[in-house]
Amino acid sequence: MSQAITSVLHEDRVFEPSDAFRRRNRTVHCPDMATYRALYRRSMDDPEGFWAEMASHYHWFRQWNKVLEWECPDAQWFVGARTNVAFNCIDRQIVAGLGDQVAIIWEGEPTTTDPDGHEIRRLTYSDLKREVCRFANALKSLGVGRGDVVTLYMGMVPELAIAMLACARIGAAHSVIFGGFAASAIVDRVEDAKSSIIVTCDGAWRRGHVVPLKASVDEACARTTLIRHVVCLKRCDNAIGWTSGRDLWWHEICATQSDDCPCEEMESEDLLFLLYTSGSTGKPKGVRHTTGGYMVFTATTARYTYNLVPGEGQVYFCTADIGWITGHSYVVYGILPNRVPTVMYEGAPNFPQEDRFWEMVERHKITHFYTAPTAIRAFMKWGDEHPKKHDLSSLIVLGTVGEPINPEAWIWYHETIGGSRCPIVDTMWQTETGGHIITPLPGCTPTVPGSCTLPVFGIDAAIVNERGEELPPNQGGLLVIRRPWPGMLRGIHGDRERYLETYWSKVPGMYVAGDGARRDERGYFWIMGRIDDVINVSGHRLGTMEIESALVSHPAVVEAAVVGIPHEIKGTGIAAFVTLAPTHTGATNDAFRRELCDHVTKEIGAIARPDMIRFAGALPKTRSGKIMRRLLRDIAAGKESMQDTTTLEDFSLLAQLRESDE
Ligand code: WTA
Repeated sequence: MSQAITSVLHEDRVFEPSDAFRRRNRTVHCPDMATYRALYRRSMDDPEGFWAEMASHYHWFRQWNKVLEWECPDAQWFVGARTNVAFNCIDRQIVAGLGDQVAIIWEGEPTTTDPDGHEIRRLTYSDLKREVCRFANALKSLGVGRGDVVTLYMGMVPELAIAMLACARIGAAHSVIFGGFAASAIVDRVEDAKSSIIVTCDGAWRRGHVVPLKASVDEACARTTLIRHVVCLKRCDNAIGWTSGRDLWWHEICATQSDDCPCEEMESEDLLFLLYTSGSTGKPKGVRHTTGGYMVFTATTARYTYNLVPGEGQVYFCTADIGWITGHSYVVYGILPNRVPTVMYEGAPNFPQEDRFWEMVERHKITHFYTAPTAIRAFMKWGDEHPKKHDLSSLIVLGTVGEPINPEAWIWYHETIGGSRCPIVDTMWQTETGGHIITPLPGCTPTVPGSCTLPVFGIDAAIVNERGEELPPNQGGLLVIRRPWPGMLRGIHGDRERYLETYWSKVPGMYVAGDGARRDERGYFWIMGRIDDVINVSGHRLGTMEIESALVSHPAVVEAAVVGIPHEIKGTGIAAFVTLAPTHTGATNDAFRRELCDHVTKEIGAIARPDMIRFAGALPKTRSGKIMRRLLRDIAAGKESMQDTTTLEDFSLLAQLRESDE
């Protein structure tokens, strides 16, 4: 397993929902465990009835004939129904007379622009509708319509959410690419999705510097013939290249558009978006999410997991970038239908100082704060003085996502940020699941640091062996989901085989998540880490194969093997073992290591930059030629390997690999 967070703190205290939480919340959607169990049982006994009831909170142009059509592994939810996700995120609130309420609170990174020293935009549902309609009409004027895929490669600006909702409004799917990825990642995704339009920004602010997004798009456009138009939002006013005819300014194409754009009536199973994510083999895969089921699942999970209640002054802040699934589901799609303002922040958590988030909590009276364990570990390292400077008493619920949280980080989060009164929801889920699958519910589930506790309604999660048999408590096995749920992926774009192979072939009839896990005596889930060659670096999902491909694309590299290593802040760091071409075998110095790291940064992006590179004459392989990754993981972590090495081709290699200093 690639996750190897070894905790020094043994923590088995159970944290019951606090009275303070109960006093603060007039409404608790799931107020006790008896209610949770009853609802969960209902969702298992009568899934169609349960999800029909959840779906009835939202707007449908046409009702479904059937809630679920299931022919493993293909699910259709709300069959025959028509809806529009943008309508449910925006118009439904306006129809209900809430058009003047705040939908999005955005804060830019630079701190000098306005008299208070902050650049803040508050968009009401009516503002959002106007902006979305204008951009939707602009897209239409460029010939974009139902079934097209629009690529979005932007910073964390409101226009990113606006562009997503504009696509949803006119029935085009979006494919958001995280702004930290390099040009080649754009080329791969654009070509796989057959997308002919990219929306970008001149730049994005990050730690006081401009990330030149448009320049990466230009580089990508030079390497593919697919792109007809690049729409560019002016954000940083940095100098950029311009290709007339192809490139268009956002503000210019929107200037003359009408504020009104009717919502397309989408079929429930129409594609809402593609989101590329890493797997064990090959290039990132385009995970397909559709309209009705995804909408109902994200809005329902958001409502229960965070206990969102409109009209009670709640302000929700998820720190994830929209380039990842967390941003799709829990900055935008799951939150807006719940009528609670969602906070978007443009920049780095430590700009201009390490207290930026806590300053924001105080400034906006944030009630819900959702982040990743890697961020929490960084906050801990930066020191308690930063949160202590600010009034964090507005906080009600804290959340984490992305990797298992180590108990030290959990306790620190609970005490220092949550004032020992806020429940922590450790939400386990994946790009593929669309929304939370295992999580505590605040004010309801007793929590134990490090456990994501119990399954979400409708999620038939279990720990099984490869024959699909459920394992007894505390025995590690495969995390599976045994029946369909509305937010599940509907496939991998253009690759049916890979969909079947990755998720449905290991245990017949069950969705295999790719994580090892166990359940304890009380039924709580403990995630042990990925069982494939995916690593979670700072909560970002990367395939070791992608990094290996980037390394071998350097002319000096013959072969590369990448493994995860325990890392104090990132959770998992990246270690690369590299063999060099005979012409380069002398080049094993630090400057050359840096060159290889820079090469990976250029090929994939800074998030994939190795933390450690080791050179070796050869890589350890089994007789059948497979690289022995487990062995490399032990070597990288400095552990004496417990692994049986009898199949290892060349014993002398081991000594060599251990000696090859960093
Ligand atoms: C891991 C992120 C433990 C897990 C939403 C999963 C977690 C992968 C948790 C998906 C958690 C996510 N506890 N592990 N609370 N949340 N993971 O697709 O290994 O970027 O399979 O989705 O992150 O990563 P992805």
